[in-house]
Amino acid sequence: MTESNLAIFGDFAPDGQQSYDNAVARFRQQNIVLPTFAELRTPSTIDPVILDQLTGVEKDAPDARNLFRVHWFNEHADEPGDNFPGQVDVPTHIELPPELTGVDARIVLAFGNRFPMIRAHKVLAAYSCLVARLVTGRFDPTANRAIWPSTGNYARGGIAISKIMGCRGVAILPEGMSRERFEWLERWTTNPDEDVIKTFGTESNVKEIYDACNELSLDPTNVILNQFSEFSNHLGHYAVTGPSLETVFEHVTADRPGSLAAYVSASGSAGTLGAGDYLKDSHGARIVAVEALECPTMLYNGYGDHNIQGIGDKHIPLIHNVTNTDMAVAISDDATNKLDILFNSPAGKRLLVDRGVDGELVDMLVDFGYSSICNTLAAINAAKVWGLGSDDVIMTVATDGSDLYNSDRERIMSTHYAGGFDDAEAAAVFDEHLADVDITHARSLDEVERDRIFNLGYFTWVEQQGVELDDFDRRRSQDFWNGLRPLIDQWDDKIRTFNNATGASFG
Ligand SMILES: Cc1ncc(COP(=O)(O)O)c(C=O)c1O
Repeated sequence: MTESNLAIFGDFAPDGQQSYDNAVARFRQQNIVLPTFAELRTPSTIDPVILDQLTGVEKDAPDARNLFRVHWFNEHADEPGDNFPGQVDVPTHIELPPELTGVDARIVLAFGNRFPMIRAHKVLAAYSCLVARLVTGRFDPTANRAIWPSTGNYARGGIAISKIMGCRGVAILPEGMSRERFEWLERWTTNPDEDVIKTFGTESNVKEIYDACNELSLDPTNVILNQFSEFSNHLGHYAVTGPSLETVFEHVTADRPGSLAAYVSASGSAGTLGAGDYLKDSHGARIVAVEALECPTMLYNGYGDHNIQGIGDKHIPLIHNVTNTDMAVAISDDATNKLDILFNSPAGKRLLVDRGVDGELVDMLVDFGYSSICNTLAAINAAKVWGLGSDDVIMTVATDGSDLYNSDRERIMSTHYAGGFDDAEAAAVFDEHLADVDITHARSLDEVERDRIFNLGYFTWVEQQGVELDDFDRRRSQDFWNGLRPLIDQWDDKIRTFNNATGASFG
């Protein structure tokens, strides 16, 4: 990489030696070993001693050994209370049948709620951002506070990672996020009044989050780990999520060949979209970026509030590789809100079985949070717009599960279905939102459209956040993104050196 002011942490920080030494000492004292990206990509390669230790560590406990569960290959605990998952050969996933999607293309989602501590894959993004700083002398756990701006799950992931690394973390998130997120934060922060900062608004009020960050950054002991602009977030998904989804793809096509036609991801920070860059490089998959119809920034330069928590933040993230994106789709939160009720109610489940969906598969839909439903609907859009058929596989993710939205469901039930949600309501929701998915708000992106979306980022990043124009513009070329890839192996080398220096071992 050429020199830039972007948050790309390849080289050791010029003034980073003291921070690095303090980090080494802290990790030695706390006996914390850091996993490499290679281990998280292929967790079967993790030292058997560590894997053996993990069998006695609860998956959601604040235990540093859980860093070795920050990957897609955690077993699914079938029994309630069985929270000591081992590893599986293929990430747990679901393939949705045409009876559910209405299209022949094979839509496959990997389950993010198998990740430890926060039950969402955003803990991987948090780890990627912090570890890149740690091993390059940019974070001193004995002196710095890690500030995690987000609309929810990344902040939780950051708090979890900070806590198990023995450093102080602060979550910044809009006050309108789900009650379950705040309850979790109350449990995980030592001093919730200081360490959970609630900003104005909901999902799409990211400007207010930045304002809070800018204020906090006046104190040099605060380190802002901005997921929207830290390229480590993109690279973590390129290095770990992409290959993990590739394993799923190879598995589902082993007996029934098919091509990886597309990768779909609803965009919050656009980190998860980084997996699409990997799948495009390795399989030629086209990349679909998704947002909420109630806040259609990419499609219509629009704004507004919505309830697809975790996505659609009224701006184009700096780490979104826009010029590599092939389609933009907007999905309404009316659809995700109501399908969540369909998937989680007796009448809805009955209806799905009546419409020919296998009962066991219906039971797995409990693992779909709002953005997972959104990804599904966007995948259906892509299948219809591009005319994909039964030989085409569309890969996507279920970032979190529906249990994070139980309180939202109660609220939405009382607003829309105060009289109850029975067979007639279930049929109406299915017919409106699944039977024939509307594709009005899907657009294949040509060069003009890509440039339009790319240019929209100027106002956030150059005008508001002070990114140099040259740095902003460099991201238009794929040379820039390809130039980032070697950082993954470089970080792994640095992680090994760091672990050697601490001498920590879980043995
Ligand atoms: C539930 C949920 N879905 C989707 C996303 C979007 O992921 P990304 O930020 O990687 O674009 C997030 C981000 O926080 C999320 O919490």
